[in-house]
Amino acid sequence: MLRFTYLLLFLVGMLALDAEAQGQTTPAAQPAKKVRKLGLQPDLIRGPYLQMATPTGMTIRWRTNAYDRSRVMFGTSPNQLSTVVDDSTLLMDHVIRLENLKPATKYFYAISNFADTIQYGKENYFYTLPETGKRDTYRIAALGDCGNNSTNQRLVRDELLKYLGDDYLNAWILLGDNAYSDGTDAEFQAKFFNVYKDDLLKKYPLFPSPGNHDYHDLESAGKKDQYKMAYFQQFTVPQKGEAGGVPSNSQAYYSFDIGNVHFISLDSYGRDEKNKRMYEQESAQVEWLKKDLEVNKNKEWVVAYWHHPPYTKGSHDSDTESLLVNIREQFNQVIEDYGVDLVLCGHSHVYERSKLMKGHFGPEASFNAEKHNLSASTGLYDGSKNSAPYLKSSDDTNGTVYVVSGSAGQLGGAKATYPHDAMYYSNNEVGGSLLLEVTGKQMDVKWICSDGKIRDSFTMMKNVKNKEKTLLKKDKVLTRSKANEKEKLSSLR
Ligand SMILES: [Fe+2]
Repeated sequence: MLRFTYLLLFLVGMLALDAEAQGQTTPAAQPAKKVRKLGLQPDLIRGPYLQMATPTGMTIRWRTNAYDRSRVMFGTSPNQLSTVVDDSTLLMDHVIRLENLKPATKYFYAISNFADTIQYGKENYFYTLPETGKRDTYRIAALGDCGNNSTNQRLVRDELLKYLGDDYLNAWILLGDNAYSDGTDAEFQAKFFNVYKDDLLKKYPLFPSPGNHDYHDLESAGKKDQYKMAYFQQFTVPQKGEAGGVPSNSQAYYSFDIGNVHFISLDSYGRDEKNKRMYEQESAQVEWLKKDLEVNKNKEWVVAYWHHPPYTKGSHDSDTESLLVNIREQFNQVIEDYGVDLVLCGHSHVYERSKLMKGHFGPEASFNAEKHNLSASTGLYDGSKNSAPYLKSSDDTNGTVYVVSGSAGQLGGAKATYPHDAMYYSNNEVGGSLLLEVTGKQMDVKWICSDGKIRDSFTMMKNVKNKEKTLLKKDKVLTRSKANEKEKLSSLR
């Protein structure tokens, strides 16, 4: 592949931005207007979308409806896209890697072929990730079971964007089952890329994880050929520790840092070379995970996400489905041994959220709140009298909050004993997405629903000193009554 970078200087007038805002195609970002001699040019049919963000790099992908060459022009000013990266190979799926960028910096970009601009507008920008370990305010959204082309999917998307307003989303993560029902390329196109193309995909870096429906695309191919399924072909993830973390050398699972937050994306369904699934201690994934957790235990926050939840009574049952039972009985110990702060899953098309808990590896009936909950608090920390965050000090990092957030598209379901006893808050009637807002040692997690309401939220604090702990714990535990819930939670907006 011939790829080269060279420098061009040119100006783009604000008229071009206005034209794009009106939905017009503009050739404004072209270095030099060339006269078309070849007739029809390919159309953009997917993306652009942002992959493998790091503090110094970004991968931009898009698809055209015919073979074409690839060019990305970018710069820190919308009027000066002064750096160009080219690939002269004729492709329909275009992948351009930008390197040597500055951390936490806003870049504007345009995609084109070698003759015409394909897309450029005021929404074509991104921020590189911050330097590893750096504290600031970071926002990360999580969408579970999203790609079903439903009204719910669009409302959840719209309300997340509305809540964000002008605030940037440093990244968004997928909790699996990203395109129903079989994760085919056509389904990803219609139910994922088309739905998110105008906003989320073009300016917020995406870090996915696969679900069982994504594997349906090529499930019959077996473990050897599973990486040929659409999910793996269309997403580029950091396998070599490019964004922090221990290299996984796998497309299925990987880790990355966003400042002081370490994220781990796991595969709860596929099989490794030894035909083992993630819950098996001898699996390549668990062996890698232990190393990654060990190396990153000094990180201020550790968040792990995968598709199949250890605790649920929504559209799936963690007492009767072997994959879920095995993850809880055989795998969760690893997560808890290293004090992972937050676990996010999907699969069950509901919302379920535990308190800060530890050591519950049995069925729902064996859950004992006094024994397994490390805090009796709801986790609300909204300034109301009886609220209290979940606290961890540097010498006591025990406890994990488990969240099932699988209703960003799919919605509903309840098993006989719904809600699960380990869950403080459950909701199978409204869809939503999860938003993590991290500022230093405080993490606020909000469930943003399809009607714009925040029906659940909680706060965790790390590295809390004893003096602060006394202060933060002095309030009584909040008892949430249905009557005041709506008013209290809406005040969080
Ligand atoms: Fe699933």
